[in-house]
Amino acid sequence: MKRLVVFTGAGVSAESGINTFRDSNGLWEQYRIEDVATPEAFQRDPSLVLEFYNQRRKQVKDAKPNAAHRALVELEKYFKTQIITQNIDDLHERAGSTNVIHLHGQIMQARSTGDESLIYDLETTELVIGDKCEKGFQLRPHIVWFGEMVPEMERATYYASMADVFIVIGSSLEVYPAAGLLNYAPEQAQKYLIDPNAKELYHMSNLSVIKDTAGKAVPQLVKKLINNTHAS
Ligand code: APR
Repeated sequence: MKRLVVFTGAGVSAESGINTFRDSNGLWEQYRIEDVATPEAFQRDPSLVLEFYNQRRKQVKDAKPNAAHRALVELEKYFKTQIITQNIDDLHERAGSTNVIHLHGQIMQARSTGDESLIYDLETTELVIGDKCEKGFQLRPHIVWFGEMVPEMERATYYASMADVFIVIGSSLEVYPAAGLLNYAPEQAQKYLIDPNAKELYHMSNLSVIKDTAGKAVPQLVKKLINNTHAS
């Protein structure tokens, strides 16, 4: 079986009604990163940061996987498929994908501020001051904030470097180190970039750019990749 890596950003969930970050009307037009998505922000005003993520959690709970999430599930039957997402939502999992790495954490989980190995699934959308881990430390969202390490990056680069096919869906490729993942894909790997506003990546070999929405282009590409496995 060929190895396939799917690297997703906010664009894959846009058609599920979850705001992207950098499009017009995106989240970072409405909030300042330094107010809500850094360790310093959490130290300065933890209630504000918790409330920001409570709102994100409500939005995710109300959202449903779209045609792109659903189509990607099908790939597992034909390829060794690894999804690597920058998204904190759980729409890939809810669609049925089983191998998902969350580079930037997961909104439906909380983590202890005193022992980062203590991670909890959240039952409700609210995480508030006074919610504590079993050792008595305040809980925080299990999110990688700006300025923090990306602990899953090593595992992600391993999968990227092994890929026969590498698909990028709906990412502005602006935030590092995640955005650099495509550079770890082998030169001979077939690469696809699906994004209506896709950047020109002139240096990238074997790259097909599909300037279309995920909901439309992903099911088509998945069909083509599966058909090719029958042909070969
Ligand atoms: N289908 C596919 N792509 C889309 C769609 C769609 N329907 N709608 C928008 N897009 C594209 C946009 O053109 C844009 O290139 O999705 C991309 C979203 O880019 P960003 O908002 O920058 O999101 P992302 O790349 O995931 O951001 C990376 O930044 O703030 C952080 O931690 C946050 O994980 C996030 C990281």
